Amino acid sequence: MGKVLQLFPEFEEDLQSNLSETERNLCEIVVGDANRVLLGFPEGLFQTIVTSPPYWGLRDYGIEGQIGAEMDVNAYISNLVVLFREARRTLASDGTLWLNLGDSYTSGGRTWRDDDAKNKGRGMSYRAPTPTGLKPKDLIGIPWRVAFALQSDGWYLRSDMIWNKPNCQPESVKDRPTRSHEYIFLFSKSERYFYDPEAIKEPTQDKRQGRKNRRSVWNINTEPYAGAHFAVYPRSLARLCVAAGSKEGDRVLDPFFGSGTTGVVCNELRRQCTGIEISNEYADLARNRLLKRR
Ligand SMILES: C[S@@+](CC[C@H](N)C(=O)[O-])C[C@H]1O[C@@H](n2cnc3c(N)ncnc32)[C@H](O)[C@@H]1O
Repeated sequence: MGKVLQLFPEFEEDLQSNLSETERNLCEIVVGDANRVLLGFPEGLFQTIVTSPPYWGLRDYGIEGQIGAEMDVNAYISNLVVLFREARRTLASDGTLWLNLGDSYTSGGRTWRDDDAKNKGRGMSYRAPTPTGLKPKDLIGIPWRVAFALQSDGWYLRSDMIWNKPNCQPESVKDRPTRSHEYIFLFSKSERYFYDPEAIKEPTQDKRQGRKNRRSVWNINTEPYAGAHFAVYPRSLARLCVAAGSKEGDRVLDPFFGSGTTGVVCNELRRQCTGIEISNEYADLARNRLLKRR
């Protein structure tokens, strides 16, 4: 099933004895390919899944089974569909999936990209060819392609949220607006599902009128994490998904754990968390982060 880096208190008593009660870890990290690791989990184990798969065609870590380095965008989409089908089996019948996805442009005919010296693991040794039916410079629309594919596979597509990044990176483009958003999709396993609207209410325009139901545009600054060579989502984004998708004590899954942001938030909100990460290096990074070593 993969190497398990346990962080549940009973396995980490020594390491955790310096942490206060509220800082104790409720997380476990399983190192391995999520496709295989998920097979070992029982049906209905998790209340919610909060996750962000690698973007398509952006980074190649040379690890067998990694998602995101497929030459064909349709292969990327079907790999995600297969993985989330297995993940759905491990969800409670009233469970949800909160999926963060970013978009990409076709390569415009370039086939090679230089290694990015500042960002290890960033350069791809190839640029995927322009997908059939698209032209150079086309926006691919990956988030919606994935969303429709998951919907066809049986997931209930309940909402798209725009993650607006007020502090987004500038781009040197002069023929389109700078991209400053990504998507989060809320899917459910069944028609009726657990969703806590109270937990994520937002202030009304006129703050004296109290709080209103959360809207579908989320303005959240990006939050880089030192040592991570992939897009880390901000804690405030993960917090909204975990808070609305589960109750205290519930078990949350992140099959693309990366630096462990979902775990950090689960510790704060007193949820148990299982993170799956294919890279040993990133699993260690997450573990150290969860143990507050860096
Ligand atoms: C975009 S990052 C996740 C970032 C994470 N949300 C955070 O805030 O740190 C995606 C992660 O998925 C991992 N990954 C890629 N393919 C995988 C697979 N088949 N199974 C498990 N993890 C995988 C990558 O190594 C990478 O760390």
